[in-house]
Amino acid sequence: MPDTPRRPVSRTRRPTESKTSPPPSGKGATGSDGSGERLQKVLAARGIASRRAAEEIIKAGRVKVNGQVVREMGVKVNPERDNILVDNKQLARPRMRYIILHKPSGYITTTSDERGRWTVMELVDVQERIVPVGRLDRDTEGLLLMTNDGEVAHRVMHPRYGIQKEYHALVSPLPDREAVRALSAGIELRDERGQIERTAPAVVSLLPVKHGEQWIRIVISEGRKRQVRRMLEAVGCEVQKLVRVRLGPLVLTGIPKGAWRELTPGERRELFVALKLNDPEMPAEERE
Ligand code: URA
Repeated sequence: MPDTPRRPVSRTRRPTESKTSPPPSGKGATGSDGSGERLQKVLAARGIASRRAAEEIIKAGRVKVNGQVVREMGVKVNPERDNILVDNKQLARPRMRYIILHKPSGYITTTSDERGRWTVMELVDVQERIVPVGRLDRDTEGLLLMTNDGEVAHRVMHPRYGIQKEYHALVSPLPDREAVRALSAGIELRDERGQIERTAPAVVSLLPVKHGEQWIRIVISEGRKRQVRRMLEAVGCEVQKLVRVRLGPLVLTGIPKGAWRELTPGERRELFVALKLNDPEMPAEERE
């Protein structure tokens, strides 16, 4: 049985933009696909002023986006990519957050849910606009990375960087030798559109019996929808519990279910190395 979700730490994050938001001005600001955040919201989030006061600052012509003065309201920007100046001074880079959450079952991995279901955002209370990196199913528990660093999120999810995901699964019946061989070699799955897709080779093994339970370990480097459950179901194993215990160099150890914490500097360093990224906040002498 999945855990019953507890009261949220806070319900800070609601859908950020409504479908009726004004379109981007197209003058200088990005967001031509309708994405991005309202300029006044970004200014407020960076501590320039309250949203109200930020609107006045914009109307007064004190804000430039990508070299052009913006006076109208509703312009959307991408704070990571757009060059935003207030009184000709660059906006400070937001504090980068890298958070490990021990996701309990019963929460869905999304920033907002129009059906009002419990989301992982209810469990983490930070100012910055973090998002979950990848997805764990509602009933899957374990390590979920959350960040406002778009490049890190992209690289963790992109197969090119081969970030391993390690899961422990309680299944019934246990896979036999042939099933383990098939899972390890790669298996054909049917996607939602009925197309056959072949999974990449995986590492599959039995874990030592603990509290009378025999769990299996499965390590993959892909992130297809419900991949582990579908792989196991394809060899006739019903998944009773699924826990992600590792993501690349990051492990879940020591974080109680439902709790979260910032990555330690060491973890952050290892993550950046695994993603072949330089950490702008790491002192130059510590970089490669
Ligand atoms: N694979 C699954 O089937 N579910 C998850 O939540 C993660 C990986």
